[in-house]
Amino acid sequence: MTQAPAAPQENPLLVGLRKRRQAEPCAITIFGASGDLTQRKLIPALYSLAFRNLLPENFGIVGVARTEMSDEAWRGKMQEAVKEHGRDEFRQDVWDDLAEGMRYVATDFADDGGEEHVVRCLNALDEDRGTAGNRVYYLAVPPAAIETIIVAMGKRRSAEGWTRLIVEKPFGHDLESAQHLNTIIREYFDEAEIFRIDHYLGKETVQNMLVLRFANGIFEPIWNRQFIDHVQITVAEQLGIEGRADFYEKAGAVRDIVQNHMLQLAALTAMEPPIDFTADSVRNEKVKVLKAIHTPGPKHVVRGQYGPGYIEGEEVPGYREEERVAPDSLTETYVAAKLFVDNWRWADTPFYVRTGKRLPRRETTIAIQFKRAPHPPFELDTEEGLRPNVLLIHVQPDEGVSLAVGAKVPGQGMTIRTVHMDFLYGGAFRTGLPEAYERLILDCLLGDATLFTRADEVEEQWAIVDAMVAPWKRDRPSFPNYAAGTWGPAAADELLHRDGRSWRRH
Ligand code: BG6
Repeated sequence: MTQAPAAPQENPLLVGLRKRRQAEPCAITIFGASGDLTQRKLIPALYSLAFRNLLPENFGIVGVARTEMSDEAWRGKMQEAVKEHGRDEFRQDVWDDLAEGMRYVATDFADDGGEEHVVRCLNALDEDRGTAGNRVYYLAVPPAAIETIIVAMGKRRSAEGWTRLIVEKPFGHDLESAQHLNTIIREYFDEAEIFRIDHYLGKETVQNMLVLRFANGIFEPIWNRQFIDHVQITVAEQLGIEGRADFYEKAGAVRDIVQNHMLQLAALTAMEPPIDFTADSVRNEKVKVLKAIHTPGPKHVVRGQYGPGYIEGEEVPGYREEERVAPDSLTETYVAAKLFVDNWRWADTPFYVRTGKRLPRRETTIAIQFKRAPHPPFELDTEEGLRPNVLLIHVQPDEGVSLAVGAKVPGQGMTIRTVHMDFLYGGAFRTGLPEAYERLILDCLLGDATLFTRADEVEEQWAIVDAMVAPWKRDRPSFPNYAAGTWGPAAADELLHRDGRSWRRH
């Protein structure tokens, strides 16, 4: 008798992966539902997840804000937002499915019992949509409102299911306030339930830094002070403050970008290999780097503020002329700093970082500049031939990685010119990159906190920033000190020239 052929076996790794990526039934509550972030990022991200069938079948979204609005009206607004800001084509059937589970609650958390309406709505969703008491609370609200909501919702934790909390930045405004916030949160939630968001960690290219370093054998041996001359991290924006004066006047570039995105990029560049890709292993290594960054002295920090100027030929106002900005504002819109990571791998290797609004173009890059070849055996007739190798990680735009190497110019003689070995995401994968928020929201639904910031990381980041800004209280900068559309104040160039270096050419 012949045996019946065995059923084809599925690759166990794929089965495992699929299992891991299947989120459980749950409801996500967005506090700050009428805000900009919800419309520009959160709802379009949820739509894109629905578009790819990545959301659980039993799913609901509750929008919470103070403005009175019906479910229908909110859904209508969100549909427009998806059409305007979504990265995928708009498909009515996908939207209708998602919208069926969308509810809106108008309430004010400043009022006693303001949370009651939210709790009732969530309980009803459990009944209607089978969301099983599992809750994600997304706090997309101004810092002043965070504490009230955490306490109110923390006291009303659902008896069944799990609860997770996503907290948007800024997480506090200095070390003390961040510690206070962490203490309050921990009264009601475990660290494993807290997802402090830094959307840079959701960017594909930022995660690729880990893959580049730790999935390739060739980089790690040279990823240290012996081979690397210095690192330059740039977060340049063309945009101004986009009407966000109320927030930006209090934050400035150092709290808005350096405290979070910039220090995370530095930590990922400098960290030791984690033993695995789990939340604690990765974050343990990052926090070690943050602890090792020593306080830059005032000579190593440059701040700037843009005056009027031109962006791509268009005249733009200076920061002090922006709506609701004080005419004598001392808020910085540009920061450059020289940081050192005091450990065995990086001692004496500067990490130059810079970020600014109204710079000539949008660019986020990490440039690893290697030491020069010790002795070129060629007669070099141009300075060009002497340029050191640079590994350039393009976080955005033109996402990819490029390695600058010297190459011989065809023809007689030995002329050397720098050329680039390029990997471009668009060319290699021929697929659009997901938005950072898609990845991060899904990770939270799956309970994976690897790409979120832990309490100790946030606090270390604030400790660095507090030390950077402490001397600023003593002196008055003469602002504005760079024109919109230029690469920042002259002092930022001097910061590197003093070391015989210069910012990467633009
Ligand atoms: C936000 C800042 O965190 O990041 C904004 O608050 C900034 O000021 C933005 O414009 C930049 O993000 P991205 O993804 O456009 O680089």
